[in-house]
Amino acid sequence: MDCRMDGRVALITGSSRGLGRAMALKFADAGAHVCIVGRRENLLKETKGEIEKAGKGKVKVAAVSADMWQPADIERMVKTAEKELGPVDILINNAGSSQRGDFLTLTDEAWTSDIELKLFGAIRACRLVIPGMQKRKWGRIINVLNTGAKATPGGGYPTAVSRAAGMSLMKGLAGEFAKDNILVNGLLVGRIESDQWLRRWEASNKEKTYDEFLVDMAKTQKLPMGRVGTAEEFANMACFLCSDAGSYITGCAINVDGGLSPVV
Ligand SMILES: NC(=O)c1ccc[n+]([C@@H]2O[C@H](COP(=O)([O-])OP(=O)(O)OC[C@H]3O[C@@H](n4cnc5c(N)ncnc54)[C@H](OP(=O)(O)O)[C@@H]3O)[C@@H](O)[C@H]2O)c1
Repeated sequence: MDCRMDGRVALITGSSRGLGRAMALKFADAGAHVCIVGRRENLLKETKGEIEKAGKGKVKVAAVSADMWQPADIERMVKTAEKELGPVDILINNAGSSQRGDFLTLTDEAWTSDIELKLFGAIRACRLVIPGMQKRKWGRIINVLNTGAKATPGGGYPTAVSRAAGMSLMKGLAGEFAKDNILVNGLLVGRIESDQWLRRWEASNKEKTYDEFLVDMAKTQKLPMGRVGTAEEFANMACFLCSDAGSYITGCAINVDGGLSPVV
């Protein structure tokens, strides 16, 4: 099976680190021109160099410092990607954070902030790239979600609720734009090694090494495969869906969680 993306333009939000970075590396290796996005310029610069290497000098790489909470930044992000790389063929709505709290104490501000970043961030980016995809009759969109989208754990808000909305958005777009060959899917993350876990380890008392911390997490959270996933394992699925190999798959919410989710 050939999962090439030669000449495609991929815009990946939240891609200076973690899963976004892993997708950017994989897509560049598969021949796509890649636009990475994040807020911190130093990280963007470092990751841009890594992606250029992965693309072996054959792909263009753009880096945009933008905050997905800000509508004006989202517009600038799409404009810059188009100016530097060409029309966007692939959009990965990946930027996000995980806010959790007790229902009775969560404020309107906490809810709004989570929904604004994850749901509205995706809505605004989709609205800007879909018209071009329609004209060219080719497009791929992935909403990166989490397993809480299908099975919200008690206390798993607001993040799981935003993710359920992101899954609903994905399904609606898949139905509306299938006729234009725009394929839209959701990837539901379980526990995958990334900077967010590194940050949690750094905030812990560091009695254990980072590797031991991850092994421990797999045990305490009862991960069925006995380990967290790697960002590359996640990126493999995104690459398949966004390549021509994934040409008849749309409207799916796929768990990439090593069997963690209680639902299919
Ligand atoms: N890893 C997991 O186990 C897991 C589990 C469930 C869901 N997820 C979801 O998967 C996605 C990727 O997570 P990750 O684990 O790869 O996170 P990560 O390692 O913390 O990386 C997050 C990336 O997104 C950027 N970012 C964060 N907020 C942003 C904003 N407002 N605007 C633009 N860029 C932003 C960060 O750079 P800056 O901070 O410099 O902006 C960084 O490049 C997220 O949506 C997350 O909620 C991950």
